[in-house]
Amino acid sequence: MRRISLLGSTGSIGLSTLDVVRRDRGRFRIVALAAGANLPRLAEQAAEFLPRFISVARPEDEARLKFLLGGLRIAVGSGPEGAERAAAWPEADLVVSAITGIAGLGPTMAAVRAGKTVALANKESMVAAGPLLRRAAARSGAAILPVDSEHSGVFQCLAGQDPRLVRRVILTASGGPFLRTPLARLGTRSVRQALRHPRWRMGRKVTIDSATLMNKGLELIEAHWLFDVEPARLDVIVHPQSIVHALVEMRDGSMLAQMGPTDMRIPIQYALTYPDRRPTAPAPLDLAAAGRLEFLAVEAARFPLLGVARAAMEAGGTAPAALSAANEEAVAAFLSGRIGFREIAEVVAEAMRRHRRAEPHGLAAIFAADREARAEAARIINQRTPS
Ligand SMILES: NC(=O)c1ccc[n+]([C@@H]2O[C@H](COP(=O)([O-])OP(=O)(O)OC[C@H]3O[C@@H](n4cnc5c(N)ncnc54)[C@H](OP(=O)(O)O)[C@@H]3O)[C@@H](O)[C@H]2O)c1
Repeated sequence: MRRISLLGSTGSIGLSTLDVVRRDRGRFRIVALAAGANLPRLAEQAAEFLPRFISVARPEDEARLKFLLGGLRIAVGSGPEGAERAAAWPEADLVVSAITGIAGLGPTMAAVRAGKTVALANKESMVAAGPLLRRAAARSGAAILPVDSEHSGVFQCLAGQDPRLVRRVILTASGGPFLRTPLARLGTRSVRQALRHPRWRMGRKVTIDSATLMNKGLELIEAHWLFDVEPARLDVIVHPQSIVHALVEMRDGSMLAQMGPTDMRIPIQYALTYPDRRPTAPAPLDLAAAGRLEFLAVEAARFPLLGVARAAMEAGGTAPAALSAANEEAVAAFLSGRIGFREIAEVVAEAMRRHRRAEPHGLAAIFAADREARAEAARIINQRTPS
């Protein structure tokens, strides 16, 4: 029996995780849930899975959540402390980290410090604080298992391989909704168009990141820290069908690929049952029906953020934290209609030009870099959209 604490239970990864749990009740038990603002959904989940503890983002929502729970005897918490309490919940042996954005960092670190097995979906925490998370995991004995389909793919390709024999690790990118949009029209793409991902149904922030390819930039940095692969040996290739999730090229030229249906329940379940494999809900891959698989080079002019992300990865220190923070601000500004699609990349690139890189020795320095980059991005956005 695996006892699970699920952070971000009301989101896309959260719902898929609960679906996996629901199908294998004898194997999993939910002991804690943490969510943001969707109180009705959280209360429903609590009634179904009967965890011991649940937490919401805002302290002022606690009373309403307790009301929604009716007579259920479940402890309620809130804020970053509440999410961290869920992450370090003593009964939990596995923590699914699926809060979106930098809000996931504190809880992820709490789970790692508590020595939990962490199924990591929240890529922003590994991007912002990779070395700190790795050091904390080495101290506590925590294992960090990838949930992201690409990293789950790399993880599976690397199994049993001598790392010294690996030449390159290649992540695939679907290219998002604007892969074939004429470049001149990119600037006028609407929020609705950007949210219409051709392959994956995901949360809003990660869907916009997929349209700009920042998602792949963040994933490169995540892979760098998860698998200890230096930047020069990490690559991205566009693969619109999203059937091959990752490739590992060996020294002898042999290339290993991991393939699978585009359904997050498969990599989530693998992280939950690792090293075991269990049957899953999605229909098996039908390669003959899939037909042709395409692979294309990334067009730098279409996806300038990938280059910005790569530069931040190479710079290291606080640069990746600043990159992720500036991007969160720019994506939020796009989603609220304050800037256009192309401006997301311009804002992030300008914020990174202004970032003064430092060597972070603790989470405080990461959060400081995050705050400064957000403030810088907000200034750049305000200059473009005078009120
Ligand atoms: N979706 C995918 O297929 C996918 C694939 C790979 C990696 N990821 C990564 O997984 C993470 C989650 O993605 P998602 O698509 O599931 O996002 P999502 O649908 O937007 O869900 C985000 C979750 O985080 C919660 N949350 C937000 N702010 C919070 C806070 N301050 N405190 C506590 N909880 C908070 C939300 O709660 P409320 O909804 O209640 O506000 C929700 O449960 C992201 O880092 C993303 O990059 C996602």
